[in-house]
Amino acid sequence: MKISIIGTGYVGLVTGACLAEKGHEVICVDMNPERVAALNSAKSPIYEEGLDALLAKNVGKRLRATADLAAAVLATDATFIAVGTPFDGKTIDLTAVLGATREIGEALRKKPGYHLVVVKSTVVPGTTDTHVLPALERASGKKAGVDFGVGMNPEFLSEGEAVHDFMFPDRIVIGGIDARSSQVLSEVYLPYGPEVPRLTTNTRTAEMIKYASNSLLAALISFSNELANLGAALGGIDTTEVMRGVHLSQYFRGRNEEGLPPITSFLKAGCGFGGSCLPKDVSALVAHGHKVAVEMPLLKATLEINKVQPRNTVDLIKKHHKNLRGVKVAVLGLAFKPETSDVRESPAFPIMQQLLEEGAIVTAVDPVAVHEAKKAFPDSRVRYTDALASSVAEADAVIVVTPWKQFDQVPELIRQRATPPLFVDGRRAFDKSSVSRYEGIGL
Ligand code: UDX
Ligand code: UDX
Repeated sequence: MKISIIGTGYVGLVTGACLAEKGHEVICVDMNPERVAALNSAKSPIYEEGLDALLAKNVGKRLRATADLAAAVLATDATFIAVGTPFDGKTIDLTAVLGATREIGEALRKKPGYHLVVVKSTVVPGTTDTHVLPALERASGKKAGVDFGVGMNPEFLSEGEAVHDFMFPDRIVIGGIDARSSQVLSEVYLPYGPEVPRLTTNTRTAEMIKYASNSLLAALISFSNELANLGAALGGIDTTEVMRGVHLSQYFRGRNEEGLPPITSFLKAGCGFGGSCLPKDVSALVAHGHKVAVEMPLLKATLEINKVQPRNTVDLIKKHHKNLRGVKVAVLGLAFKPETSDVRESPAFPIMQQLLEEGAIVTAVDPVAVHEAKKAFPDSRVRYTDALASSVAEADAVIVVTPWKQFDQVPELIRQRATPPLFVDGRRAFDKSSVSRYEGIGL
């Protein structure tokens, strides 16, 4: 099939590269000419495992990029909208989605024959029906369900594993305004074979599935953090062991099964969840509920708990240094999670903000995301570096925010020092007996 994809961020680019790999002819569209040029020379503008290899293999063959949206629509059978949908505190910002929609509609005016338009961006339930569809009709002068189809196809990509997630999906959710839209959309996923579970539904339900999935994960993390905070206050309780005990129940494991199911990886206490999805999606759903007078206390609490976790993490340093003025703190990990250069909503930033406000001297370390972090948190008081060993060597306190593999050597680096620094494990990723002065969330 011939497919165009609008937006080459994490989602659009991974979608484009993977659909090309699966045999489709793909045109990626981005308004940013630098991105387009980079892509056409098979250079990925983002760090994502496996993406460079896919680009090297497919660019110039089944994959190309352009800034010309109309030409891309005219040359293809289906168009995916994968531009960003930032949350402004009250509602998700549909400017980019509706801008792309209008341009697609204008192109459709000139296109004979059927075309499918699919929303891939995360949008609150109802958006495709009540905003995208009418905007397409207005701009094209044509009728949805007759001249063109409309679909909603949420993504379930976890950054750092996005290529793998797209190539080996756990599910494919197909939302359509009618049977033909769903049919054409499901043809895009024909190369996946029957072993991948598919759910076909209307566009609103498809939109809600995405929010439901992320909200549940966020709620599980905040649940674990709430218990961790209580455990630490009561004393003598290790939340990591508490959760291990919970995971052993038959509800998680079945009666006789070996190993723990993947969901347990969302029941870890820590300095809080970040990223482009969990914080934004939960906030957007709460705000959307408020609009129709449905308050969502569980999800509100999920966000509130998440907001205090960075502070709780800094408090672990303050147990040892009542006054942070002049205390040298190495913050390890700026990406919101390992194996990505994405720093959006990273808990590292509120942690650094508070450290600076209280007068600490902050060194910020990340193996990949220093460039992005500098842009997101441009404070001249922070020394940004990827040099791990020297940063640990100079610190009074080391705080792990993101458990990169590269940081596995930190306990060893600490043991080499004559006067070991305090070690704060913001992710409970390390053995608490690995260093002499250990503090961890939920301990
Ligand atoms: C995605 C989804 O779109 C979002 O809904 C989801 O919740 C998170 O992931 P992401 O891929 O991370 O967003 O977006 P971003 O990195 O912001 O990239 C968007 C791209 O679209 C940029 O390259 C931008 O230049 C491009 N763009 C944006 C356009 O080409 N046209 C526009 O009108 C707006
Ligand atoms: C998430 C979903 O996992 C994915 O399915 C969806 O499509 C997009 O949103 P992502 O945002 O890439 O993916 O990262 P994820 O691995 O879910 O981590 C989100 C944040 O939660 C990270 O900051 C991570 O450190 C934090 N987290 C995760 C915890 O604090 N505790 C946990 O137990 C698990």
